[in-house]
Amino acid sequence: MKVLLVAGARPNFMKIAPVYRESLRRNAVDCKIVHTGQHYDYSMSEAFFEDLELPKPHFFLDAGSGSHAVQTAKVMIAFEQVCMAEKPDWVVVVGDVNSTLAASLVAKKLMIDVAHVEAGLRSFDMTMPEEINRIMTDSISDKFFVTEESGRINLIKEGKPESAIHMVGNVMIDNLMHQLQSLDGQRFETARIKPDAEYAFLTLHRPSNVDEKGVFQGIAEALNRIAETMPIIFPVHPRTQKMIARYNIRFADNVIQLSPLGFREALYLWKDAAVVLTDSGGLQEETTALKVPCITLRENTERPITCQLGSNILAGNKPDTILKAFQSCVDNAAKDCQVPPLWDGHSAERIWDQLLA
Ligand code: UD1
Repeated sequence: MKVLLVAGARPNFMKIAPVYRESLRRNAVDCKIVHTGQHYDYSMSEAFFEDLELPKPHFFLDAGSGSHAVQTAKVMIAFEQVCMAEKPDWVVVVGDVNSTLAASLVAKKLMIDVAHVEAGLRSFDMTMPEEINRIMTDSISDKFFVTEESGRINLIKEGKPESAIHMVGNVMIDNLMHQLQSLDGQRFETARIKPDAEYAFLTLHRPSNVDEKGVFQGIAEALNRIAETMPIIFPVHPRTQKMIARYNIRFADNVIQLSPLGFREALYLWKDAAVVLTDSGGLQEETTALKVPCITLRENTERPITCQLGSNILAGNKPDTILKAFQSCVDNAAKDCQVPPLWDGHSAERIWDQLLA
C-alpha cells in the first residue's frame, strides 16, 4: 500500500512522527513524508524533525508563509504534482492547518482516498482559520481518525457514516510518551534557567490573541501580574515576536522570553511547570495527559474532553478572566483529573490497523 503522509506546520510534525514510525514496522506499506514548507525556520521545522526522529522529508514543497489563499494555493499546486507522480492509495493528513486542507482537496480531486487524523474536532468558532480547515477537510475525507468522543458525535451530526469513523485515541500522546522516554540523561541549554521553585510555562501565537494591540496588551498585563507570583518561561513564536515589536508590548523581567524551542526542550520545561498558559491546541491535550494544570487563553476549545476530564481551564483572553483562572489553579492545584480513553501511546497502531483493514 502506498501512502503519502502530509505535514506542514509545527503542530503537524508531532502527529506524523508516531504514524511514520509505525509504518516502518508494517510490511507492505510504502509511506512517504511530504513536508509542505508552511513552516520553514530551523526552529519551527528542522529542529522538530531532528527531535522527533523523523527522516528528511521525501518531498519538500517549499510553500512558505503568505496570505491564507496564497499559502493554500502554493501547497495545492506543488502537491498535485507529487500525487500525480506517486499515485498513492491514501493521502493521510493530520490536524487543522492550511496544509491539511490544501493536501486533502488536491487528493480528493484526483480521486485518491483521504484519511484525516484528528478528525471531528470543532470549536464552533468560524473566526478561527483552523475551524474552517477542519470542517472542509472532514467534508471530503474518507476515513476519520478520532481522538475523543466529541469528534465522533460531531461527525455523525454532519452525516458521516459510522463505519468510516474510528476512535483511535491521540497520536499527540503517542509522541509525548515516546519523547518522555528519551528525556532522561539529555542535557538542555535551558537547564540553567529552569527554576527550582514554582514557575509557569507560556505559549502564545493565535492571531486572535496577538494580532490586535489592545487584546495583546491585556494578555500581557495579566501575565505581568502572574509573574509577580511566579516566573513565566515564554518561548516566543515568530508571529508573536513580530507583534511584540510592532506594538511595543512590555513584559516584566520575570517573564523570561526565549526563542522557539525544539519539542524535547519545551517538554523538559513544561512537564514540571506549576501551570501552563497556552493558546495552542496540542498543549491542552499534552498537559491533560501528564495532569499538569493548563489555562487556555481562548473562549472555546475544539478539545472539550481536556476540560471535562483533564486539567484544562478555559480562561478567554481578558486580564480579569485570566487572573481568575490562575487563582483557581493556585487554589485547586490537586484537581482530580483523568486521562481520556485510548490516550495510551498506541494510537498510530490503531490507525494502521484500520488503513490496512
Ligand atoms: C499555523 C497554523 C496554526 C498553528 C500554528 C503553529 C494555519 C491556518 N495556522 O499558524 O493552526 O497553531 O501554525 O505554529 O495553518 N513564520 C516564521 N517562520 C516560520 C513560520 C512562520 O517566521 O517557520 C512567521 C510568518 O512569517 C508569519 C507568522 O510566522 O508572520 C505566521 O506563520 P503562519 O504559518 O502563517 O501561521 P501560524 O501563525 O504559524
